[in-house]
Amino acid sequence: MDHFHFSNGELHVEDVPVSRIAAEVGTPVYIYSASTFRRHAQVFREGLSALPRVHLAYAIKANPNIAVLRVLADEGYGADVVSVGEMRRALAAGMKPEDIVFSGVGKTRAELVAALEAGIGQFNLELEEEGAVLAELAHERGLVAPATLRVNPDVDAGTHAKISTGRKENKFGVPIDQALGMFDRLAGLPGIDLKGVACHIGSQLGDLAPLEAAYKRVGELVAELRGAGHRITRVDLGGGLGVPYKPGDVMPAPAAYGEMVARVTKDWDVELMFEPGRVIAGNAGVLATEVVWVKPGVANPYVIVDAAMNDLMRPALYDAHHDFVAVRPTGETMMANIAGPVCETGDTFAMNREIDAVKSGDLAVFRTAGAYGATMASTYNSRPLVPEVMVEGDRFAVVADRIAAETIIAAERVPEWLKK
Ligand code: LLP
Repeated sequence: MDHFHFSNGELHVEDVPVSRIAAEVGTPVYIYSASTFRRHAQVFREGLSALPRVHLAYAIKANPNIAVLRVLADEGYGADVVSVGEMRRALAAGMKPEDIVFSGVGKTRAELVAALEAGIGQFNLELEEEGAVLAELAHERGLVAPATLRVNPDVDAGTHAKISTGRKENKFGVPIDQALGMFDRLAGLPGIDLKGVACHIGSQLGDLAPLEAAYKRVGELVAELRGAGHRITRVDLGGGLGVPYKPGDVMPAPAAYGEMVARVTKDWDVELMFEPGRVIAGNAGVLATEVVWVKPGVANPYVIVDAAMNDLMRPALYDAHHDFVAVRPTGETMMANIAGPVCETGDTFAMNREIDAVKSGDLAVFRTAGAYGATMASTYNSRPLVPEVMVEGDRFAVVADRIAAETIIAAERVPEWLKK
């Protein structure tokens, strides 16, 4: 369920018409519904209510805006971070350091030190050497780093290749059959408290079967580690639940996911950690845009909008589908291609799609843009960095400014030797 609906023939986010935000803030603009974020956070938690000990760490990468993080902190979520920048955001939004998990395959020594000094709750190690370095850095400082070892269960998540992470040829985690040996070597080091294991096999998963297969392998590993005398108190099951992007998409509900997890983990006797991203954020945001031109094309016209691949990269990068909906639909439809102003053919949001009929000057939105939308935006073609607005009830606020080309140019220099 979300809070994007039509009222008096016009798309609203909660109680605010999209046209009002577009008039005040301009387009393109991301618009988030705080109530939808809250609801998704609650539904995910309720889905896991049969599990005894649960820690929820929202995967900040999906949507790191600090207003969003503030809402999720209110809902009792901690954070899964993959850089010190994300850690700083979580802390700035009021999340407690002990509720922060640090994932990521390339944490630098400086990042490990910053996270140790902040006192974060868990480091998810991606290779043995990282564990040895972390132990040493912690020990030197008189600290003990809480950690898990991320294992690669060699499961095909059945999702887009660019967002699959759990096959053995992917860069993530350690081979599951080598985990015991690594555990033996790392667990004895001063400076580290190896509490368990972590896994994450991919994103936008439409089927629970690969998750179940991965979790079963992790369960076998937990038994094996215990058999070898290790104390295992935590297992991090990652994120990955898919969301519907178009009508007719059927995705596993959090309740079905929770039921599967409860069944697979019933004898584990650990604290289970989760890192949901897209399932919380995806359908809590839209990207509002204005139609610049409707340009005649060979088979269909091109609807050229003022949003582009630099604002919403997913279609160019993963051929992802985002529904396109007119803010004031007339009831008429048209066959069209939808593209942005950036100078490459990849800047295309859709080809040969039946959409609401639109003309120059009309407003529309790309739906399901709350996850991996604004956070992946760039200033390519010297376009401004897209702003973000949050709505709650009848209020709205700009929660990230549009960063103008002038501001970006002001951060650049011509070296002295080139000045005449
Ligand atoms: N935990 C780890 C270790 C991850 O790598 C990810 C996502 C998550 C949790 C959250 O996964 P989620 O619940 O959101 O599926 N930019 C891509 C998605 C990249 C996902 C990367 N890792 C896209 O736009 O589809």
